[in-house]
Amino acid sequence: MLSSSRSNRRLASAEDISLTRTKDPPLVLVDDDTPTNDEGVAKVESPVAPTWPLLPWSRGPLSATVISAFQRQPGTLGATPPVSGIDALSDDDFSLALYLCYEVHYQAVTDAGWEWDPDLLKFRAELECVFEDRLRDEVADIKAHLPLEVVSLLEELIRAPSGASLSTYLLESGTLDQLCEFCVHRSAYQLKEADPHTFGIPRLTGEAKAAMVEIQFEEYGSGNAAEMHSVLFGNTMRALNLDDSYGSYVEVLPGVTLATVNLVSMFALHRRWRAALVGHLAVFEMTSVEPMARYSSALDRFGIGPEGRRFYDVHVKADERHAVIARDRMVAGLIRAEPELGPDVLFGAAAVLMLEQRFSAHLLDAWENNRSSLIPWKSNAG
Ligand SMILES: [Fe+2]
Ligand SMILES: [Fe+2]
Repeated sequence: MLSSSRSNRRLASAEDISLTRTKDPPLVLVDDDTPTNDEGVAKVESPVAPTWPLLPWSRGPLSATVISAFQRQPGTLGATPPVSGIDALSDDDFSLALYLCYEVHYQAVTDAGWEWDPDLLKFRAELECVFEDRLRDEVADIKAHLPLEVVSLLEELIRAPSGASLSTYLLESGTLDQLCEFCVHRSAYQLKEADPHTFGIPRLTGEAKAAMVEIQFEEYGSGNAAEMHSVLFGNTMRALNLDDSYGSYVEVLPGVTLATVNLVSMFALHRRWRAALVGHLAVFEMTSVEPMARYSSALDRFGIGPEGRRFYDVHVKADERHAVIARDRMVAGLIRAEPELGPDVLFGAAAVLMLEQRFSAHLLDAWENNRSSLIPWKSNAG
């Protein structure tokens, strides 16, 4: 059984994740064991903001570098470890380091000055370079420049066999603990759902921009804060007795999970990747309806009521429309305006499909072997 305090929760095992019941006020923990690369720099009182409840434990030298820096003032990153010999699509340390580099652009994880700290941006660029190279190892370049051609290739990618279905498994044979684990994994993205794609809006024009805004408006609850999809996902987590505070489970998420969020953040934060971001959003909208219905039914199977299922039910309804807007106006509109971006749209789509497949395989493999798919709370590679 997990304790109700976050600090004690670190001592419990990930297998008990579904029993987590933590409604404590946010607690900032400083990982004093984390090695720093610049011992000469004095630590200052942590500037971590309360919206990020705690900095995670490090998983190795890369994440230790970022976590340690975030406990100091900007401008003190110091020497960084080499980024080599790593599988950037699954390595836990690499993925957490990149995730935290991106997180400063979303919520207040640390002193706001880190967001544009030149050394942190340089380190992030090194990580991104390795990440992009690995994506290109896995995703074939597809040349297409006509709107109809791009749309039809996108549909082909989506229809391609993608391995066993997580939603089918959870509906047909998943346990409540596994359903909780699934939500813990997804919390890394869904507690900030829609935010990464919103970075694309100023980078688009015309029909593609208008279509993305129409989708995003509904993702943000059509003007009603209580209906924002990120809020609805928080309701699901609470219905499962999980902690829905932002960032609370990052430290137990494996690299394969964090890589799915790093992908969309990389696309979101670079103008050159705006078409890949469009392809990524299109895949989300065009593949959502059936799995979301299955997740809702899986929750129903365990007695979770309408409020806890609403996140999924809303998607079943909204994404029928969003899929059409994404395909016919956002993707086709972008390619009509900028035909040279066709390959990037398809790269973004293929990359998210590939990472989602790896994510599903990781969870299903762990569960088939009676293991947790999460990293144990006490894991501290630093
Ligand atoms: Fe959504
Ligand atoms: Fe949607």
